Amino acid sequence: MSAEPGWIEDRFYEPDTETGFSAFLLHEENDHSLAVLAVSWIPGMGIGPHDHGTWAVVVGVEGLERNIRYKRLDDRKNPDYAELEIKDESIAGPGDLVCVKKGGIHAVRNDSDKITISLHTYGTHINYTIRSQFDVEARTAKEFKIDVK
Ligand SMILES: [Fe+2]
Repeated sequence: MSAEPGWIEDRFYEPDTETGFSAFLLHEENDHSLAVLAVSWIPGMGIGPHDHGTWAVVVGVEGLERNIRYKRLDDRKNPDYAELEIKDESIAGPGDLVCVKKGGIHAVRNDSDKITISLHTYGTHINYTIRSQFDVEARTAKEFKIDVK
C-alpha cells in the first residue's frame, strides 16, 4: 500500500510547463463556495504577491514551497496603489499549513528541484472572486484573473 493519500492522481505530477503550475478542482459547492483544489508547481516557478478575494487555507502535501506573506502599509484608498512589506517567510512542507485571511497577500515559489503539490481550500472558488496582483517595487495593485479549471 502506498503512503500517499488516495486522492493524489498521476496528472498532479505534470503541471502546465507554460504557466509553471496546474490546479485540479476536487470539490466546489453549487454556489462556488468551499472550493478545494490540488495545486502543483514546477521547480523554480511561482507566483508573485497576490490576494484571493476570499480566505485561503493551504496545506503542503509533497515537496517544499516557499511562502512569503506581506503586510499592506497604505490605506487601500487608491485601488491601483499598494505599499507592501514582507511580514514573514516560511517553507511549507507536507502537513504544514499556510493560512491567508480575506485581503491577506502572499507569494509562493517552488525553490526546490522537485514538483510540489499542495491542497488549497478557498471560501469561494477563485474564478469567482475579485483578486489583485501586486508589484512591490512599482507599488501597484492590478486586478487579475487566472482561470483555474
Ligand atoms: Fe495564493
